[in-house]
Amino acid sequence: MRRRRIGNTEIEVSVVALGCWGLIGGFTWGPQAASDSIATIHAALDAGINFFDTAEGYGEGYSEELLGRGLAARRHEAVIASKVSANHLAPGALREACERSLQNLNTDYIDLYQIHWPSRTVPLADTWRTLEDLRAEGKIRAIGVSNFGVLDLADLKALGRPVTDQLPYSLLGRAIEYHILPQCTLSGIGALCYSPLAQGLLTGKFASADDVADGRARTRHFASARPHARHGEAGCEMETFEAIAAIRDVSDRIGEPMGNVALAWLIRQAGVTAVIAGARSAGQVGQTALAGDLVLSDETVAELATATSEVKRLLGTNPDLWQSDSRFR
Ligand SMILES: NC(=O)c1ccc[n+]([C@@H]2O[C@H](COP(=O)([O-])OP(=O)(O)OC[C@H]3O[C@@H](n4cnc5c(N)ncnc54)[C@H](OP(=O)(O)O)[C@@H]3O)[C@@H](O)[C@H]2O)c1
Repeated sequence: MRRRRIGNTEIEVSVVALGCWGLIGGFTWGPQAASDSIATIHAALDAGINFFDTAEGYGEGYSEELLGRGLAARRHEAVIASKVSANHLAPGALREACERSLQNLNTDYIDLYQIHWPSRTVPLADTWRTLEDLRAEGKIRAIGVSNFGVLDLADLKALGRPVTDQLPYSLLGRAIEYHILPQCTLSGIGALCYSPLAQGLLTGKFASADDVADGRARTRHFASARPHARHGEAGCEMETFEAIAAIRDVSDRIGEPMGNVALAWLIRQAGVTAVIAGARSAGQVGQTALAGDLVLSDETVAELATATSEVKRLLGTNPDLWQSDSRFR
């Protein structure tokens, strides 16, 4: 498993991270036994993954708790990334949230502490100063952000530099390529890619849009008629599934699982530090971990970009996977 440093830190992370949102099961993900979640964490470590992403917002601390239980005596092998929610960014609330996350995770430090979404009410300077204090106190090792667009990143410039920006990025969600990724690259901020498998679409497990359960068919790929959609767009279901078919052809030709090809493509993009792939079982994570050693040829990289360019065009420059009224600035 290849490893990279995050930003200018000494912290080395595997290029494939385990995303721990799906480990809670529930509305988006479906039924999930805690024992399977723990087994997934163990299998991730055994497969060379040392990077784990969670958030206080995933199941109100339940995802953090599962991760703490799964790592247990192997905490020292892991780099833990967690996130503070947008409604906890005022200094007092942020300190409390950090303490709660430390307790949930059963650890005394968080390696990478990220602002989950920017606040539109709390001054960024107050949040940033508190994060720096937490770092000076040793409760967190590095500061990251998530879902920060170019204007939010510009606001940060006067305050300091986050080591990472965690962003939606996959072969089926390429909007950050227009502005945010180039900005991150210029500023020396590593991009961490979330939903890199497009919530499972890129593993090829769904034959058509109708096969995707409503809880997951909320992204702007799907028509706004889907019951839980929060956007008012027509979606691009046909083009999405045409792109998936083209990616499947490429994957079959090179003899690699489609999901791993999709992850390897992202790992190749300039500015990307790691992909945060969700997995629900030891078997899934055992497979996705292999993407960390898969190197695609230049031709394959270009072919995959072409195969997904129509979906990129149709979804436009809005990186928000779920809302037309973009929460990115
Ligand atoms: N910062 C943010 O705002 C934000 C937002 C979203 C996500 N995230 C982070 O990013 C992580 C990953 O994103 P995500 O969970 O949305 O989606 P994802 O990684 O794109 O997709 C995960 C899903 O892919 C399927 N999968 C994974 N490996 C597979 C394999 N080997 N074979 C078959 N299917 C496989 C599983 O589907 P099944 O469930 O059907 O088995 C799994 O639940 C999250 O866990 C979270 O840490 C962050």
